[in-house]
Amino acid sequence: MEEKIIDENKQGEALILDAKEGNDRKLFIESYGCQMNFSDSEIVASILAKQGYNTTNILEEADLVLVNTCSIREKAEQTVRKRLEKYNAVKKINPGMKVGVLGCMAERLKSKFLEEEKIVDMVVGPDAYKDLPNLLQEVEEGRDAVNVILSKDETYGDIAPVRLGGNGVTAFVSITRGCDNMCTFCVVPFTRGRERSRDPQSILEEVNDLAEKGYKEITLLGQNVDSYLWYGGGLKKDFKNASEIQKATATNFAQLLDMVATAQPGMRIRFSTSNPQDMTEDVLHSMAKHKNICNYIHLPVQSGSTRILKEMNRQHTREEYMQLIDKIWEIIPDCAISQDLIAGFPTETEEDHQDTLSLMEYVKYDFGFMFVYSERPGTLAERKLEDDVPMEVKKRRLTDIINLQRKHSAYRTKQFLGRTLEVLIEKESKKSDQHWSGRTQYNTVAVFPKGEYKVGDLVMVKVEDCTSATLIGEAVGYSE
Ligand code: SAH
Ligand code: F3S
Repeated sequence: MEEKIIDENKQGEALILDAKEGNDRKLFIESYGCQMNFSDSEIVASILAKQGYNTTNILEEADLVLVNTCSIREKAEQTVRKRLEKYNAVKKINPGMKVGVLGCMAERLKSKFLEEEKIVDMVVGPDAYKDLPNLLQEVEEGRDAVNVILSKDETYGDIAPVRLGGNGVTAFVSITRGCDNMCTFCVVPFTRGRERSRDPQSILEEVNDLAEKGYKEITLLGQNVDSYLWYGGGLKKDFKNASEIQKATATNFAQLLDMVATAQPGMRIRFSTSNPQDMTEDVLHSMAKHKNICNYIHLPVQSGSTRILKEMNRQHTREEYMQLIDKIWEIIPDCAISQDLIAGFPTETEEDHQDTLSLMEYVKYDFGFMFVYSERPGTLAERKLEDDVPMEVKKRRLTDIINLQRKHSAYRTKQFLGRTLEVLIEKESKKSDQHWSGRTQYNTVAVFPKGEYKVGDLVMVKVEDCTSATLIGEAVGYSE
């Protein structure tokens, strides 16, 4: 998801919600990794609000500490281990505090967590959050509690997430969970299980409710949103021989986009993440049809070399990816595109690396999320391929990729100079309390003097200057 990866090196964000009257226990919950984890923490807080917990952002006063974890790269796991050390220190002054680990690391390490980290009382995988009340009971009675059972149909579609620590303007809405793609480098299929889609009706209800509460932008979330398919529940593969009637009543991602955009024309709609192999032309047509669907696609490519893509088990070649890019611009000429790239996948040669750079030159991505390859236990790449690119080579290639991306980002932002773009105000600028910060539909950040405007306003901003990642301008009025 844009991913998506919210900077996992940065400290996880502690989330607070409005206190619910009568609740007397304090929950400190923080999330690392992808947007889905942040969204899941809102589901968890909703489940625990019914158990008497209000959230707090003061670790030292918490009765229960939950950390929603990420396993995507080794570094992400190390970050969480460091955090556990901090909890350990706090437990000395707050001995009653209980600690639970949620998310992908919980799923990957299971009960091993309890042996390795004495501070941990509870281990809960991404599909087991509804079991939290029972697990807490176990912990309270002095037993260790573990539930890492993955599900074929859990989508939490029936739980209204409490919106934590947000700006009241933008929100995530989960539409699929899990992933069936089995890219050889990726731990997600093991930690998040089989792909399943959520009932479109419950998605619509959540979106309508957000609109009523004044939200102005939603991001439909999934590990692989374009493969969204609602057949009335269950796994896709169970419906391989489905009758034509079932097929006729199925909802795919293009139709879901159309439904949501039609239901809430005043709301901006984003989605993440798109997998190139699953993106259809119909999705592009839905985007082109609705002004409120943002012209921006996060389209991870991972490598520009067809040979490496094959080793990664990505189901497309370099050329097919380029054809998809051409198709996007044919249907949506101003569409912004971002990437995920991995440097130094096993067997990657200088030539493969040059293929990645030349593909970047072709697309000139608006921005990207770039990583060195990190071998993950249990993945096909770990079992079948030697992690044979030396770290200094991986790092040098990553630097090449980042430098080129910086150049392309600067090129893209410069194209906006002199133009007047619609910006949704999200928050105060980090650098100045006299300026607002928001995003254009292209997902580019724009800052401008506050004037008469407020958070949540859609305003027209004349772009006068830019850095490689940020537009700087002046608001010239409300958007029509
Ligand atoms: N389809 C998912 C991908 C999740 S992982 C989504 O975007 O929602 C996010 C990104 O992390 C991937 O696109 C990939 O670029 C990177 N990544 C995944 N596994 C990795 C690994 N083992 N080493 C380095 N980067 C990895
Ligand atoms: Fe991972 Fe590939 Fe799915 S990157 S989340 S296995 S599309």
